[in-house]
Amino acid sequence: MARKFFVGGNWKCNGTAEEVKKIVNTLNEAQVPSQDVVEVVVSPPYVFLPLVKSTLRSDFHVAAQNCWVKKGGAFTGEVSAEMLVNLDIPWVILGHSERRALLNESNEVDRVSNWSKVVIAYEPVWAIGTGKVASPAQAQEVHDELRKWLAKNVSADVAATTRIIYGGSVNGGNCKELGGQTDVDGFLVGGASLKPEFIDIIKAAE
Ligand code: G3P
Repeated sequence: MARKFFVGGNWKCNGTAEEVKKIVNTLNEAQVPSQDVVEVVVSPPYVFLPLVKSTLRSDFHVAAQNCWVKKGGAFTGEVSAEMLVNLDIPWVILGHSERRALLNESNEVDRVSNWSKVVIAYEPVWAIGTGKVASPAQAQEVHDELRKWLAKNVSADVAATTRIIYGGSVNGGNCKELGGQTDVDGFLVGGASLKPEFIDIIKAAE
């Protein structure tokens, strides 16, 4: 089964309401391949989720950058997965290396029960925000290993259908070759997702 190309924009802890409106306008005006070819998801900081969701074009989706894995209750400052569902936010980034490094998150807080709803992002930490990008061959090698791991530890079907995307200094110049690798099914983009260049990265799906 073909895996649909996936391009995520992780805005991290960036932006003001005005800047967010500008990014959304740029995305809304862009000519990009259809939803049959590429799935586009942008992930603004929590406080901007309602603004982005209500103004973003309907063929793009939104993601939260984290969520509380337990049910709601006395957990000051947290937002539960149920709340995201309630607001019709279909995606969430879990286990980002920045949260692991800064907030001690571990594999224990993101156990997977339904692989059909998961996209795996491989992000070499040395490539995040540094301008140093993995070579297409390096990315392919790791993605291939991840797929083999899924085949061995989960199932052949999950290995064949789960999208594995690359993150780490992806930009308009390097996306095409990276995206052309057999096991690179898209990108999770940080810095460049805040710029018009993100459109070029979406077009790498073509
Ligand atoms: O989640 C995306 C990310 O960590 C990569 O960031 O700025 O290197 O594209 P950047």
